[in-house]
Amino acid sequence: MPTTWESAQRPPPLVAPWAADGRTGRTPRTGAFGAPTYTRRTMPNNPGNGFIDLRSDTVTHPSPAMRRAMYEAELGDDVFGDDPTVNALQERAADLLGKEAALFVASGSMANLVSQLSHLGRGQETIAGASTHIVEDEQAGHAVVVGTSIKQMHENPDGTFDLDELGEAFRDPADPHQPITGLVAIENTHAHSMGRPLSLAYTREVARIAHAHGVPLHVDGARFFNASVALGLTPRQMADPADSIAFCLSKGLSCPIGSMVVGSRDFVHRAWRGRKLVGGGMRQVGVLAAAGLVALGDGPDGMIERLAEDHLNARRLAEGLAAMDGIESPGGLAQPTLGTLDPGRAVTNFVIFRVRRDRTAFLDELRSRGVLLVAYDHGTIRAVTHYGVTASDVDRVLEACRAALHETAGRTPAATSPAATSPAATSHAATSPAAIPTPPTPTLER
Ligand SMILES: Cc1ncc(COP(=O)(O)O)c(C=O)c1O
Repeated sequence: MPTTWESAQRPPPLVAPWAADGRTGRTPRTGAFGAPTYTRRTMPNNPGNGFIDLRSDTVTHPSPAMRRAMYEAELGDDVFGDDPTVNALQERAADLLGKEAALFVASGSMANLVSQLSHLGRGQETIAGASTHIVEDEQAGHAVVVGTSIKQMHENPDGTFDLDELGEAFRDPADPHQPITGLVAIENTHAHSMGRPLSLAYTREVARIAHAHGVPLHVDGARFFNASVALGLTPRQMADPADSIAFCLSKGLSCPIGSMVVGSRDFVHRAWRGRKLVGGGMRQVGVLAAAGLVALGDGPDGMIERLAEDHLNARRLAEGLAAMDGIESPGGLAQPTLGTLDPGRAVTNFVIFRVRRDRTAFLDELRSRGVLLVAYDHGTIRAVTHYGVTASDVDRVLEACRAALHETAGRTPAATSPAATSPAATSHAATSPAAIPTPPTPTLER
């Protein structure tokens, strides 16, 4: 049955992993006064339960230093601007990137949304790469909330778009048929090209062209620090050409939640208004900002420099996979040359590949061996390295992949169920409540 707009509004059969018994799909029991008593189910990425979870760097848990800082955080009502921990985090982020101001928001999607609300007026247009998160993965928030369109650019396998084509993508404001271009947005690192970092020279050129048309440049830097570490550039150098940068605390930096929006004081003021518009004004949120302050710190508890370790682990994984019969190039932007997987494509923390097998069966085999990877776009598989995944974990993952390839040897991609190859069977669907895998020995406790 195809998913329709109407059917997509209905919840999946499981209410939510925390509100139902994940194995039976039963809705919660009711306790005193009819209130539901929720069953707590151990999730696969809980440290200590044996899973190596490479579905995303979003599965990371806060470090002990973060947890301590969260416990001890000084708090205030942030809607009044009174939370000293949030204020300190915002100052730190602005300073780190060499901009005037910064704003703490709930998520990367909200960071992009309030950035667009700040830069754009209703009816304007953004120029952005066709595969990027703003275009593909934010429920068309640009249209629904901001009231704008996106001119989608063809992208190259290094995550860039052709600069001549960019020059031609700006609208003619004198023509009443056309929207007025109000923003250029790039994604750094660029997810679909296997997390490639965009060079400073390229970012400068994009900014130059945008500015020549009187338009600002926004960088969706969900993994901005992965790019900075991979390129050996400071965050200030990286941020310099951009008018605004959104970066995530809750990915490679391992915070439990949060993103930052960074730019000029005027830009951040408008983003701050936008944040309230979308319900993102938070109160004693220093408990969360405290983790961000640790992550962005210079000392041994800081999480930026250690991203280099994730990049080495991704390369180690890619090299091991490339040597296996049955593992192939992912094709497309991730690796345009077909045939064997090229480990040289893994330059940050993403490894994307294809199996000459039934993908679902392969992923299930991995799961039964305590390894979680995720179905990614266009029939590929993605592995993301992050805090808590060691080189020896990578070796265990490789061992599990070898075994899973062996077990699924006769199962061709043709046998893959339509549900597994549909666009919905991507990283995002695989993390939806109904799809979260049940751990082998669930700990059911109250
Ligand atoms: C490039 C990019 N931008 C934005 C986001 C959105 O972040 P969040 O999941 O925190 O909304 C993501 C999330 O994966 C991303 O990969």
